[in-house]
Amino acid sequence: MNTSTSNQIELPRVVVPPHPEWPQLSPEETKELKQRIKHLLQQRDAVLVAHYYTDGELQELAEETGGCVADSLEMARFGSEQQATTLVVCGVRFMGETAKILNPEKRVLMPDLNATCSLDEGCPADLFSHFCDQHPDRTVVVYANTSAEVKARSDWVVTSGIALPIVRHLAARGEKILWAPDRHLGHYVQQQTGADILLWPGSCVVHEEFKAVALERIRRLHPEAAVLVHPESPEPVIEQADVVGSTTALINAVKEMKNREFIVATDGGIFHKMQQLAPGKVLIEAPTAGEGATCQSCAHCPWMGMNSLQNLEQVLRSGDNEIQIDPAVRERAVRPIQRMLDFAREHGIGMKNKGNA
Ligand code: 13P
Ligand code: SF4
Repeated sequence: MNTSTSNQIELPRVVVPPHPEWPQLSPEETKELKQRIKHLLQQRDAVLVAHYYTDGELQELAEETGGCVADSLEMARFGSEQQATTLVVCGVRFMGETAKILNPEKRVLMPDLNATCSLDEGCPADLFSHFCDQHPDRTVVVYANTSAEVKARSDWVVTSGIALPIVRHLAARGEKILWAPDRHLGHYVQQQTGADILLWPGSCVVHEEFKAVALERIRRLHPEAAVLVHPESPEPVIEQADVVGSTTALINAVKEMKNREFIVATDGGIFHKMQQLAPGKVLIEAPTAGEGATCQSCAHCPWMGMNSLQNLEQVLRSGDNEIQIDPAVRERAVRPIQRMLDFAREHGIGMKNKGNA
């Protein structure tokens, strides 16, 4: 098989924060808070760009105010199509940075700048650049879940929604690939495309917790259920999937497949959109417990959880938490991102509608 994971890299230890606990609001308080945020959005000429893993109230607010709720590919594309002078990105840091790289003239704010991602944290730019220097014969393909500096060192940026066609395209041109940072997604892409890929050994702390043996057991209890898996999950989990794909692909599967039951192996925040679009379907969380389980095993990204209505209001009031990118880094990082968006446009990949998966 043409895949290998570099074992020469010693990854930094990623500190996973506790899940933020937000004060419970009554329905009346939530309604009033949302109303205040709507006024602030207008006053600040701002639009919300939210990921499917964020809190359901945030997702609804984004849609009610003309913003978008999407996967990371569509989030990147959406900002550039907006008249608004401010984008408020509810998601994790790389999503805010991508928005700023693509829209340097806009102000990009985030409810919490500490909302990072274990893949991003596990791929420091200096270590990564050294790794690339050691393999000058390889085309550098990085997952969107990386810092602006890492993107600046790459030839292509991809998201889970477009990784397969781009790598197929590169492999057809005879290019050998250096892939970072998610080894599970990279391995899956290698298997699907047959490309020659050297993997950075990073992983997502949320998806890594899905357990294959426990999943087999649940499947026996629900033999009619379709299994939906995000490709950041470990190989033995992916092997059991009926559908492997981006968050958008998994939502579309719930909407379009005939099955009544679905076992879902990705962050639990996605259930909000799935239930909205397919209210009659039964959604079952893929198991994260079992042998090897840790206290992180809750299938919810702690960094995505740092976005709330409360800190969204704060950031709109204060104008704090603005994303800044070094212009020299931005100049190099925009090329591989734009290459991905141009490829998506030329090949008709992704969605164009807002919040409708
Ligand atoms: P998508 O691009 O599929 O939305 O994935 C982003 C992500 O961070 C998954 O963990
Ligand atoms: Fe990163 Fe995983 Fe959180 Fe997605 S779910 S943002 S890959 S840590």
